[in-house]
Amino acid sequence: MNEEIPQLPNYDESSIDAAFATLADEVRGETASRADVEAFRLRWLGRKQGRLKLISDAWLKSAPAEARKPLGMRFNQLKQQIEAALEKAAAAPVRPAAKAGIDISLPGSVRAPGIEHPLLKTMNDIVAVFHGLGYSTALGPQVESDFYNFEALNFPPNHPARDTQDTLVLAGQQEKPSRDRLLMRTHTSPVQIRTMIAEAPPIRIVVPGNVYRNEAEDATHLARFQQVEGLCVDTNITFSDLKGTLDHAMKSLFGSAVKTRFFPSFFPFTEPSADMQISCIFCAGAGCRKCKHSGWIELLGCGMVDPAVFASVDEVRLAQSKPAAYDPAKVTGFAFGMGVERIAMILHGVASAGTFYSNDMRFLEQFA
Ligand code: DAH
Repeated sequence: MNEEIPQLPNYDESSIDAAFATLADEVRGETASRADVEAFRLRWLGRKQGRLKLISDAWLKSAPAEARKPLGMRFNQLKQQIEAALEKAAAAPVRPAAKAGIDISLPGSVRAPGIEHPLLKTMNDIVAVFHGLGYSTALGPQVESDFYNFEALNFPPNHPARDTQDTLVLAGQQEKPSRDRLLMRTHTSPVQIRTMIAEAPPIRIVVPGNVYRNEAEDATHLARFQQVEGLCVDTNITFSDLKGTLDHAMKSLFGSAVKTRFFPSFFPFTEPSADMQISCIFCAGAGCRKCKHSGWIELLGCGMVDPAVFASVDEVRLAQSKPAAYDPAKVTGFAFGMGVERIAMILHGVASAGTFYSNDMRFLEQFA
């Protein structure tokens, strides 16, 4: 309830000024505290009991004619002051009510530290082994041309070797010459070509990255997966260097007790080509379900760089006005490629590659 408005002692100008100055101070004091905007509005602008209404009743209505004008002016100024204060309050952000203090005896909210995803960790571990041998990391595009993904790697157009890598191709490429058509790279091997075109030997690189195939997905096949490629080119590089390098890498990854062995295989870009196996880390070679009772697990493809690959590289280098640098009579090299999911599955005893992509925290937290 509003207190009554006292009668003006006098209707002269200084009395009017003084009375309204007091009211203006009152308004300012209340708006500064802004305790409750709606209560403030009602207190001043309420239709029946608002202070403005009461002031108007008490002072304006009974004012002598000559005092009406200064009174009216002051009255309007006061009204404007009130309305401006209300507008300002409406525009101000609502502040949350102050909290009632902090109970420091409560346990804090614990945020678990982030970890590398197990696939990223495996990839980094593989790469780190080769960094230790003086290799550097090279990267390439995931949308690749037919030339880098196949032709330069000695997969001629329509060659049956292409059938081993069921390829996802980009739409709308038919107008282009076949070597320029774009596809999702099916392996990291095209980065071998890109690196050799850019740089003369010696080359020692590892190439981690995503690759894509048109797979019907199952426990061991994904349409997107990850590989680490390796390439070493220099004078006098032999198959012994390949074996020694990979044997060292496998012992670093799986433990010093692991053995390696090499079987003849075929890849268009290596000659000779091999599949490398490691002794089964679950049964130490005795034979178990994981190694299908053979004692060995097939892990990666490798071989000596095919002279046809060197020839493709030098052809492009010459076309780009770079000196030919890959004469197979002078330089040799080896290459290898491995699947990151497969290695992570073996390292951690995971049965299905898809589990790594399931975003299931119960699975991922085991690696924290
Ligand atoms: N690119 C092959 C694949 O994806 C793997 C591979 C085999 C890479 C032999 C190599 C290699 O560099 O020498 O199946």
